[in-house]
Amino acid sequence: MRHLIDPLDLTQQEITQLLDLADRICADPAAYQEVANHKKLATLFYEPSTRTRLSFEAAMLNLGGHVLGFPSENVSSATKGESVADTIRVVSCYADIVAMRHPKEGAPLRASRYSRIPVINAGDGGHQHPTQTLTDLMTIRRRMGRLDDLTIGLCGDLKYGRTVHSLLHFLQRYHNVQFYLIAPDALKLPDYMVKFLKDNNMPFCEVDSIDEVLPELDVLYMTRIQQERFFNEEEYLRLKGCYQLDEALLQKAPQDMPVLHPLPRIDEISTDVDNDPRAAYFDQVHNGVYIRMAIILALLGIPDPLTGKTVLDH
Ligand code: NCD
Repeated sequence: MRHLIDPLDLTQQEITQLLDLADRICADPAAYQEVANHKKLATLFYEPSTRTRLSFEAAMLNLGGHVLGFPSENVSSATKGESVADTIRVVSCYADIVAMRHPKEGAPLRASRYSRIPVINAGDGGHQHPTQTLTDLMTIRRRMGRLDDLTIGLCGDLKYGRTVHSLLHFLQRYHNVQFYLIAPDALKLPDYMVKFLKDNNMPFCEVDSIDEVLPELDVLYMTRIQQERFFNEEEYLRLKGCYQLDEALLQKAPQDMPVLHPLPRIDEISTDVDNDPRAAYFDQVHNGVYIRMAIILALLGIPDPLTGKTVLDH
């Protein structure tokens, strides 16, 4: 049985197969509307979420399946002290697949060790968020036509932003991708991630100003300052608003440089950028549903009705 916990769970060939499947679903959603009939997805979300949770739910419903879950983290038995191991053993009896978001890093991995059904990591603390990254990769590939030979600027909260950590893990699989890590000193990429880049010969340059690197980027990935992960409110207030991308600043960037953001945005991208053709963040939301449909099919081992083949080896 396969789970999706860390991006490195997937080979490059498997990533490509998932992205191709998501593209096929996007081109002909009607062909997939009954493939997961009678299958059930449980959503175990112990942290707030709008997009990820709703897109998992929409994905399962689009495949003809059902969804079960609880409305907020405060109403589950976790508040009574139930362990992740027990929760997942119980949920394995009710559902065929589970998407878990948890504030504790490693909780979905732990769940997968006790689970009888596939577990999808929907975000664990400041650690990883692989389904968001597959969405990001789908969006970059559709915009740029490639995932190799790219200069990518990652901007904002590189310390706590799990989507950034996941993106770097996934891009280890690709050739000639280099990074500008744009962050204030206090929000630089954690040491273990810097080590990961070095160990894997992934070229990077740490800077704190976005202006000077904009002309060199193929892709810009903006992130929110992760208020909920700060220990100190004053520190958050000091760093809040440290980057603000607006149309005037975007004049310095290449004409075909997509601007990605996993959302929610606070003030790091001004709304005047929304109508710029380079704004790709609402495309990401759109692509996210197709990616999650592809992941659910792949992990459940359901063959693609158009090719007759399953996507992941089980
Ligand atoms: C991200 C997350 O939850 O890590 N949001 C998302 O899933 N689209 C980014 C964020 O919260 O800033």
